[in-house]
Amino acid sequence: MNAAVNTVNTAPLVVAHDLAKTFDVSAPWLNRVLERKPRTLLHAVDGVSFEIERGRTLALVGESGCGKSTVARLLVGLYEPTRGGMRFDGQDAQAAYVSREGRQLRRRIQMIFQDPYASLNPRWLVEQIIAEPLREHAILQDKDAIRERVGELLRSVGLSALDMAKYPHQFSGGQRQRISIARALATAPEFLVCDEPTSALDVSVQAQVLNIMKDLQRERGLTYLFISHNLAVVRHVSDQVGVMYLGRLVELADKAELFARPRHPYTRMLLDAIPQMHAVGRARTPVQGEVPNPLNPPTGCAFHPRCPHANARCSAERPVLTSIGGVRVACHAVEEGRI
Ligand SMILES: Nc1ncnc2c1ncn2[C@@H]1O[C@H](COP(=O)(O)OP(=O)(O)OP(=O)(O)O)[C@@H](O)[C@H]1O
Ligand code: SF4
Ligand SMILES: [Mg+2]
Repeated sequence: MNAAVNTVNTAPLVVAHDLAKTFDVSAPWLNRVLERKPRTLLHAVDGVSFEIERGRTLALVGESGCGKSTVARLLVGLYEPTRGGMRFDGQDAQAAYVSREGRQLRRRIQMIFQDPYASLNPRWLVEQIIAEPLREHAILQDKDAIRERVGELLRSVGLSALDMAKYPHQFSGGQRQRISIARALATAPEFLVCDEPTSALDVSVQAQVLNIMKDLQRERGLTYLFISHNLAVVRHVSDQVGVMYLGRLVELADKAELFARPRHPYTRMLLDAIPQMHAVGRARTPVQGEVPNPLNPPTGCAFHPRCPHANARCSAERPVLTSIGGVRVACHAVEEGRI
């Protein structure tokens, strides 16, 4: 078994290597036999690699269905990868998740979901909700100590200790998401995987929750994987950005670089669709075309049916993520200097 390795603090906390997840979405066995249908496999995530340094935020963006949540679930051990894996603080996370060390790792890695109402038990008091991880991980036993800790956690997300005596339905959406964050923080994790944590909230409330998350990151040195549809949100919170398309990373760059000089045609399309975000004076262009069916992905570069720069090579040969000028991009045209 892999013991936690003492790494120097400059090493990335999270290293995802060739992560892949394939879902078997075949018809039931009998139907397949009777109708002579083959197995159907869906490659939700296919070879995703990235690193996240301690105290930093990597944002993952991309249209619906590109595999963002699947990556999140692989990282926290909710799914087992079909291929590849993650090293966390030098430790093989997938090996740890299925061993006795899994408990310790789950304490250090927590997830925040999009819908704070669905993820909070409506029949439990806030005190029970936030105390659950403290009890489950045997962090505190004493009732008064638990209550005091729950109060501290509530205050750390801008709520009152008195709120522990209420039920989730007595709070607004933004407050409920703060309760989810307080619960996630209960085990004093180092890495938070946040899957669209503010997408269900009103715009005015989103900023408050994002600012709390940024403050908590600064105070506690937290490392974030932050998933969002919203590039304005991503620009606000991230240090690095990974753009996903049909299960793969197509561009991975520092935030400033990505927004100033997007390389991949898909990244350019996403940025062009946001008003006033790209170079001044450029008109907003809505995102063109649709994401292909993941059960029948295009040959070569999966983006070629929508790409204004596609040529014969693009439809025949899949581009690999390559370092070009300090940015990782998977595009033949960028590599050839055509764009
Ligand atoms: N448990 C599952 N079984 C079968 N297919 C799945 C499962 N989970 C996800 N998928 C499929 O995998 C692909 C990626 O899904 P995923 O939820 O990771 O995308 P996403 O980028 O998070 O999308 P969204 O922005 O809509 O949340 C989709 O085609 C989805 O239908
Ligand atoms: S590889 Fe070709 S089709 Fe794919 S993004 Fe680059 S230019 Fe477009
Ligand atoms: Mg999702």
